[in-house]
Amino acid sequence: MKNIAIFASGTGSNATKIVAHLKNHASIKVALIISNKATAPVLQMAATNNIPTLLLQKQDFYNTENLLTNLAEYKIDFIALAGFLWLIPPYLVQAFENKIVNIHPALLPKYGGKGMYGMNVHKAVHANKEKESGITIHFVNEHYDEGNSIFQASCPIDPQDDPSIIQKQVLVLEHQYFPTIIESLLLM
Ligand code: GRF
Repeated sequence: MKNIAIFASGTGSNATKIVAHLKNHASIKVALIISNKATAPVLQMAATNNIPTLLLQKQDFYNTENLLTNLAEYKIDFIALAGFLWLIPPYLVQAFENKIVNIHPALLPKYGGKGMYGMNVHKAVHANKEKESGITIHFVNEHYDEGNSIFQASCPIDPQDDPSIIQKQVLVLEHQYFPTIIESLLLM
């Protein structure tokens, strides 16, 4: 059995899709959900699905390597970032080399980097009158949104689409592809 930890601090819609996709999977299990926000809805979703959770403290995350002990306790093999905004520290990148993936709501290398998250991304795409946007699933390194790309999917943008419409279209792609890409990486 391969055990996944999902790091999520937003609404957790991607985490929810991943959990649903892998429920009762023969060889992959979502074994832990980690958040840095006590009020994140994703923690409730975890409770509903009987998945253990861990609340991260910033000091601990950056100034100690305690998290590695937690991940070892749950025998975590693979990490999926699904709406987790803190930069991943070097000790974690090194311990999980090519085993941490992130989903970004744009076609990297465009619209990535620090501060490029959520509506900031879609507003920038809109302001630049882009004709398409999409998703990038990539490995995580020490820099925001710079790890090797694994998969991209795009959607066309109509001139009248505002940032919230772009966000909805991109989220459809996220939900469609992130769970299956994670599964295929783990079955390799
Ligand atoms: C998604 O847009 C994802 O691309 C980004 O954070 C957002 C998380 O959304 N990394 P949700 O919490 O899964 O709904």
